[in-house]
Amino acid sequence: MPAKLKVKAENLHKSFTTGEGRLEVLKGVSFGVKEGEFVSVVGPSGCGKTTLLKLVGGLEKPSRGRVTIDGRPPDPSRHRLGFVFQEDSLFPWRTVWENVGFGREVRGMEGEERVGELVGMVGLRGFEHCYPHQLSGGMRQRVAIARALAVEPDLLLMDEPFANLDAQTRWILHQDLTRIWEEVKKTILFVTHNVEEAVYLSDRVIVLTSRPARVKKVLRVKLPRPRDKLSGELVRLRREVVDLLREEVPYL
Ligand SMILES: Nc1ncnc2c1ncn2[C@@H]1O[C@H](COP(=O)(O)OP(=O)(O)OP(=O)(O)O)[C@@H](O)[C@H]1O
Ligand SMILES: [Mg+2]
Repeated sequence: MPAKLKVKAENLHKSFTTGEGRLEVLKGVSFGVKEGEFVSVVGPSGCGKTTLLKLVGGLEKPSRGRVTIDGRPPDPSRHRLGFVFQEDSLFPWRTVWENVGFGREVRGMEGEERVGELVGMVGLRGFEHCYPHQLSGGMRQRVAIARALAVEPDLLLMDEPFANLDAQTRWILHQDLTRIWEEVKKTILFVTHNVEEAVYLSDRVIVLTSRPARVKKVLRVKLPRPRDKLSGELVRLRREVVDLLREEVPYL
């Protein structure tokens, strides 16, 4: 039986009114994400990736078209969503433990031991009582991932979560995110500029056109995990995505 669709985006259009007039950002974007699937979205800078993620998370409303999670429009009272963003969004006055537990606290969720499990899962055991300023950038993003998972989300939405990290830390977090995803079995929609990251992490990669964004191509990455970033098939897929992006942005 084919896996159920977790997210369904149908003919999404989004325009913003700016000082200059109307800015058309998304122009008929449609795709699905299956339950438990890891799907990445890549596209030229400024094409509308973050806007798309916001529509899926219900933070913005589409101008036209429809997005559903489990068959219903995104609704914070119905869906539990986990967000991880590029910028460091931790609370500086809270420890690692308190940051991870934040969402559970607000929702009145029981089970302190789950916070401990997640801290361990992201490799931060021993740092529970540290404050964000005492951690490296990679460690802070690990806390952000644990915090997003702590609300037991139906769906994890990630917007360039590793963009500010050095290549080595990024590489380690890629392996860790793969392991975490296999462990928690969550559906992930992951926005990135980084083509290597997209093909390495994902079951499918959605390539967008430049603004106003449409779906240019969806590529399937059929390789089993753990993957080798330098395997012939991954390198071939990277090449294919880069070539597609170069059609949009010739100087890439
Ligand atoms: N609230 C808003 N009001 C007006 N314009 C907006 C708003 N949000 C986004 N935009 C515009 O929409 C376009 C797409 O923005 P978005 O952040 O979705 O792109 P992106 O693909 O995520 O970019 P990047 O690759 O730089 O992260 C940009 O031109 C941006 O200025
Ligand atoms: Mg963005």
